[in-house]
Amino acid sequence: MKFKAVKGTRDFYPDRMALRNYLAETWRKVSLRNGFVEFDGPVLEYLDLFSVKSGDEIASQLFSFTDRGGRALAMRPEITPTLARMVNAQINALPRPIKWFSLPRLFRAENPQKGRLREFFQWNIDIIGSDSVLADAECIFTAIDCLREMGLSAEDVVVRIGSRPLTVAALRLAGVNDSAMETALAALDKRPKVSPDAFAEMAVAAGIPANSLDKLCEFQDAKNLSAVTASLGGADADSAAEIAKLESLMGYLDNMGVGDYCKLDLRIVRGLAYYTGIVYEVFDAAGDLRAVAGGGRYDNLLKLFGGPEVGATGFGMGDAVLEILLAEKGKLPDLSAGLDCFVIDGDGNLLDKVLEAVGRLRRGGTAADFSAKRQNVGKQLKEANRRNARYAIILRADGIGVKNLATGEQTGVPIGEFLENPSAYMI
Ligand code: HAM
Repeated sequence: MKFKAVKGTRDFYPDRMALRNYLAETWRKVSLRNGFVEFDGPVLEYLDLFSVKSGDEIASQLFSFTDRGGRALAMRPEITPTLARMVNAQINALPRPIKWFSLPRLFRAENPQKGRLREFFQWNIDIIGSDSVLADAECIFTAIDCLREMGLSAEDVVVRIGSRPLTVAALRLAGVNDSAMETALAALDKRPKVSPDAFAEMAVAAGIPANSLDKLCEFQDAKNLSAVTASLGGADADSAAEIAKLESLMGYLDNMGVGDYCKLDLRIVRGLAYYTGIVYEVFDAAGDLRAVAGGGRYDNLLKLFGGPEVGATGFGMGDAVLEILLAEKGKLPDLSAGLDCFVIDGDGNLLDKVLEAVGRLRRGGTAADFSAKRQNVGKQLKEANRRNARYAIILRADGIGVKNLATGEQTGVPIGEFLENPSAYMI
């Protein structure tokens, strides 16, 4: 019987694993230098945690089951609800604002396609306990800090920034009542992904009056904040406050030196239902791929889960689209990890010396290996090359040869001297 990996999952063979580790290490490094500390939660949660406020789309993509005790469980499709649950449980003990990051393994029963899998990793950055736009700016800065660290410039990626409250205001103006708001927002979120006709059909089905679609599109396509104000027919006090927040945000991002990565774009609505404020998604500049990251403010989620009213904001960045983007831009680093050295039995009867040398090298922190097969020097050298070793250490009864495998250069050294300080011979 032959088995295949489950649809939408990946096998991490060593070269793939090296890439996964590179992403995780970079995410971790950037998080720490931006002042975030790491947390994690369980892969399994009660189903309700995700059906309450993540929205219909994610609810329809849950891997869920009933356990033997009759409990309805789900494999986490995102970590934000877990974060809200965990913070609520210790809300009085945690000094705020809380700056946490996580690298969860997530599961969504999506139709697998380019950049969309059923099992993937996501970097999450969240600040809880701050209502200030500065917190949104910090999260966006951290996302850009990571992309820049990975070699992506403002010519490669763009952060598109929108506003949930302004979008809600535009929908109210269009005659959408509050009971239809969630479905109307979900329809608007889909607009950049479908044809104008398909959008119109979807929008009307979601409760948006057909005769207000042009006006809504004008609002979403506004290129600057005065055009936004104009498309809202002159903003009321609440909308003016939201516009001021966007203005502050752009100013902060400019101050932090990443303004060139950011663009106002009110077509960004976000697919998840819990967002309440500034929202954003990161895309490749050419717009060929799905979003690399998405996030925003979700000030009601903790309260909805039985906690206090606290401001919260953050984003998630997925590994799948990021990997495609880095490959397309030629920014995948060379991750072919090799050994420092490969120890070779040059006489065919020096296994005890080989083991002694390998043992001493490894104990001293040098990555060393040897051939378990008794074979001639040529074959052992071949194996050293195949294993990407930088040096071959060829042991003979009368001394050793240290061979640089990149240049072919070889130096003779007495064995005792070499083992005393091997790094002096492997620069
Ligand atoms: P999301 O937009 O659902 O947000 O996901 C964020 C990113 O995760 C996406 O932009 C994409 O790169 C990646 N992603 C999502 N689904 C898949 C999939 N099926 N396969 C591969 N990658 C995927 C959230 O998850 C929010 N919880 C983010 C957040 C954190 N908001 C506030 N804090």
